[in-house]
Amino acid sequence: MKTLQILALVGLTAGVSVGAAFAADALGERQTILKGFGDETRPVVAMMKGEAPFDLAKVKATLATYAEGAAKLPGLFPDNSRTGKTEASPKIWDEKTKFDGIFAKLKTDSETASAAITDQASFKANFPKVLGNCKACHDDYRVKK
Ligand code: HEC
Repeated sequence: MKTLQILALVGLTAGVSVGAAFAADALGERQTILKGFGDETRPVVAMMKGEAPFDLAKVKATLATYAEGAAKLPGLFPDNSRTGKTEASPKIWDEKTKFDGIFAKLKTDSETASAAITDQASFKANFPKVLGNCKACHDDYRVKK
């Protein structure tokens, strides 16, 4: 009996720590992906402002990064990752379907823009639409800590 109780306790403890590890992993992983979005976006915005030469390959690579990240991100906001060192608004979990929908739109818009962009003019016409999704989501679901 005593052994069983101990086993149950160990089992429970193991379960809890696995859950906590998962929440921390999801939090770290989403922040790494989003930080990568920021790092890739900065030079592309410089191109848009004419502060850096237009580089089609770099633009397409950035759009591919967005599409790839946007496919993973909805799964990286599990219910148990609301707290900790995060700028995620609690509203996300009240409106998870709407929130996930912006990632879906970011993915589609990135793919559409990647197909449409062939030169500097089409870059200037199509890239801002993609970035509109970043702002739309941050305005509603990211809080500055
Ligand atoms: C559907 C919502 C959503 C979209 C779309 C989105 N973000 Fe975010 N972003 C967030 C949330 C929420 C956080 C805070 C995450 C956290 O701290 O746990 C964040 C954080 C960030 C960060 C800070 C990461 C860190 O921890 O250092 C950067 C940079 C960023 N986003 C850039 C972008 C860019 C660029 C785009 C568009 C290409 C984008 N995001 C699109 C929701 C979004």
